[in-house]
Amino acid sequence: MHKTIEPKIFYFGTPVVLISTLNENGTPNLAPMSSAWWLNQSCMLGMSGNSQTVTNLIRERDCVLNLPSAALVSSVDKLALTTGKKQVSEKKRNMGYEYVEDKFGRASLTASPAQLVKAPVVNECPVQLEAIVKNIHSFDEPSAIKAIEVEIIKTHIDESILVEGKKNYIDPEKWKPLIMSFCDFYSLGDKIHPSRLAKPFISQYDID
Ligand SMILES: Cc1cc2nc3c(=O)[nH]c(=O)nc-3n(C[C@H](O)[C@H](O)[C@H](O)COP(=O)(O)O)c2cc1C
Repeated sequence: MHKTIEPKIFYFGTPVVLISTLNENGTPNLAPMSSAWWLNQSCMLGMSGNSQTVTNLIRERDCVLNLPSAALVSSVDKLALTTGKKQVSEKKRNMGYEYVEDKFGRASLTASPAQLVKAPVVNECPVQLEAIVKNIHSFDEPSAIKAIEVEIIKTHIDESILVEGKKNYIDPEKWKPLIMSFCDFYSLGDKIHPSRLAKPFISQYDID
């Protein structure tokens, strides 16, 4: 029996991304988001155009997509309801948002320089993807949301989540992403079934 409902959000469960960008004065900003999807060497990010992150992406044209493991959930949660925008909008203030200048300090996370982009990497995140902005799309619905298309140009992976003996493979058995489903945090459970796609897909791209 299905019921017809009108949910406020459709966040059915996606990995959390900590996007680091550079502010105008050269200091780093860090923001959690989870409306991200991946294709080939690109990622599409759904983010409010009112965020400091999007302001920075438009100006600087680069970022690092840092993927926290489930173990970093308390750091991520410390960044909830914070913005790097000095002028907090009335809407955000009413929701409990506050301006935080040092988001890395707030989340007990540390930054290091990236190789190819100006934004820093988050040392504690097992996945660090340096990316450049290729396109910024608007949504048809009346909102400030932007779909930001970025291309990943350098990938850093903690060796603890790599497939042993295979340089370019991340082991999904070892990678425990932090997942936001609706507004709560989860991780992934165990593998439930072998995948028929896995074999041809991996052999097609296995050029090592
Ligand atoms: C777990 C989590 C996921 C979030 N996902 C998104 C998202 O996908 N898109 C978005 O615009 N904001 C998302 N937010 C809210 C942003 O973090 C928020 O707008 C924040 O103020 C952005 O920071 P900034 O203004 O410093 O860029 C999320 C927040 C949390 C805690």
